Amino acid sequence: MKVAFFSTKSYDRQSFDHYLPESSHDFTYFEPKLDHNTVALAKGFDAICTFVNDHLDEKTLKKLSKLGVNTIVLRCAGYNQVDLKTAAELGFKICRVPAYSPEAVAEHALALLMTLSRKTHKAYNRVRENNYSLEGLSGFNINGKTAGVIGTGAIGRAFCKIMLGMGCKVLAYDPYENEELTSLGVEYLALEELLASSDIISLHCPLTPDTFHLISQKTLAQMKDGVIIINTSRGALIETKAVIKALKSKKVGNLGIDVYEQEEDLFFQNRSEEILQDETIARLMTFTNVLITGHQAFLTNEALAQIATTTLENLDELEAGKKLTNEVVWKEE
Ligand code: NAI
Repeated sequence: MKVAFFSTKSYDRQSFDHYLPESSHDFTYFEPKLDHNTVALAKGFDAICTFVNDHLDEKTLKKLSKLGVNTIVLRCAGYNQVDLKTAAELGFKICRVPAYSPEAVAEHALALLMTLSRKTHKAYNRVRENNYSLEGLSGFNINGKTAGVIGTGAIGRAFCKIMLGMGCKVLAYDPYENEELTSLGVEYLALEELLASSDIISLHCPLTPDTFHLISQKTLAQMKDGVIIINTSRGALIETKAVIKALKSKKVGNLGIDVYEQEEDLFFQNRSEEILQDETIARLMTFTNVLITGHQAFLTNEALAQIATTTLENLDELEAGKKLTNEVVWKEE
């Protein structure tokens, strides 16, 4: 298939170029993000390949359909960026990469947590400046804490196991209980109970209308004082303004985020020469107990290899008209 690849970064190109010679597909890499302005680049292609911040809204999908392109391969797990209803009405076929490396994301959640718990981000800078003072570097043990995991799919499961290995009591909330986890000692609770009992809360559920602003003024009030919140899932799970208030009042003791509500116009670019216009992230950056990374939890060699191979397999199945292993289908709520 002739595939137009949007939002290309050097690491995408490297991993896909490694596997393309063994496949029958032909890729053209475009740097721009897909939206209704850039969709014309897809003209003459059989399929498009997109990532988390490409816009697959109604306007873009309709234009894409007019160009005769009705196949989309998402090189990510989440699909909240796709207007699935419109896509279904227009007859699009969509596939994704459901689990490229759950461990990559779970390990990044741990990295955020441990950087905050031991202030290694501060220590790194101090030592480089020949400053070996330990003042202000007191941390806390993860061992013995209660970790609440919201969403125990592939990534949440991997994170639960890491937390069990760290010697934590692990609580979980998910509409579907996982038997393997319960056999390992993870305790499923109602959301309110998890919020009230956890020292650490890590978000691993998808962004849906149900989970939008799951962390809000109301749910923050139900948490322990000084709670640590980690979000490697999707930015809009957290109402950022509410969490800023909670950081100011010390209700939230630490916040580690790899995703941000307004990341779409910010992340995945070098903006170091620009004036930061986003007042909310600017405020977040002023807290010494907040750690932000720019949606990099997935970025390991192993995950990139899996993304490339699964995407190519998805294209093989689409081209052959086979049953689609990783199809994304619209379900009426
Ligand atoms: P998954 O589909 O395997 O698991 C999601 C789990 O969330 C399921 O068990 C589901 O039952 C549960 N869930 C659904 N609604 C829920 C709710 N209202 N409350 C609690 N649990 C709920 O997905 P996976 O692979 O574990 O990924 C989780 C999320 O991580 C993705 O949706 C994506 O947003 C994010 N992600 C972030 C990456 C990054 O680089 N930062 C990379 C990959 C995924």
